[in-house]
Amino acid sequence: MTVAKYVIGNWKMNGDYALVMQMIAALRSMGPLDNVTTVICPPFTLLHSFAELLGMGHIHLGAQDCGTEISGARTGDISAAMLIEQNCRYAIVGHSERRRYQMESNEVVAAKAANAQAAGLMPVICVGENLAEREEEQAEIIVEEQVTAVLKKLKNAAVIFAYEPVWAIGTGQVASHSDIAGMHDVIRARAAKHDFKDVAVLYGGSVKPENAGGILALGGVDGVLLGGASIDPDAFIAIAKTAHHLP
Ligand code: PGA
Repeated sequence: MTVAKYVIGNWKMNGDYALVMQMIAALRSMGPLDNVTTVICPPFTLLHSFAELLGMGHIHLGAQDCGTEISGARTGDISAAMLIEQNCRYAIVGHSERRRYQMESNEVVAAKAANAQAAGLMPVICVGENLAEREEEQAEIIVEEQVTAVLKKLKNAAVIFAYEPVWAIGTGQVASHSDIAGMHDVIRARAAKHDFKDVAVLYGGSVKPENAGGILALGGVDGVLLGGASIDPDAFIAIAKTAHHLP
């Protein structure tokens, strides 16, 4: 049986209205792909244009973050309910860039994931070790802590994790197949321990059209989270097609 794969694009702080138009034209010509769930997470400011122009059931929208609070005095934050109103179905939380530059702790990430879930968004929870942690052989412990902190705060429902080793993000240095498979097993085992059954685990970090096929074909990989490749319409569509053509 072929299992559906996720192809999720995180535009980060990139893109403009012109890119939205280009991407939509490319997605229209791609058409729906069986067995692939395609999600685009543009900056908040482009969500509305995307939703207005998109009008296609086969592409979903996601946000790159979600507030820790439901509403109120949190200048600059965006709540889960606001994202739902902008037609988002997914929310990335805990991306390593936010953990690093906004000093987000596991507890903050857990609060965001819980808010997203409570509002009806599917949280896409990013976890992953940095280079020093890997070199000190702490990678599994770090990832287990990140996963556990979030699962403790979530209701037992469907959830997506993205394993994104920090040293692989934007570096062109993709993790080896055995590292990916090994860490995906660690994440799944941790989820099983907390009795979560509906868990998808994606890989992210320098995924490109050239390496996506091998990664997506790995048994424990339910999809990919793309950064750089997601703002190049040709690359994004090539990866979605690769997911579609997997045996
Ligand atoms: P990259 O980013 O594909 O540019 O390495 C991945 C990510 O940050 O999700």
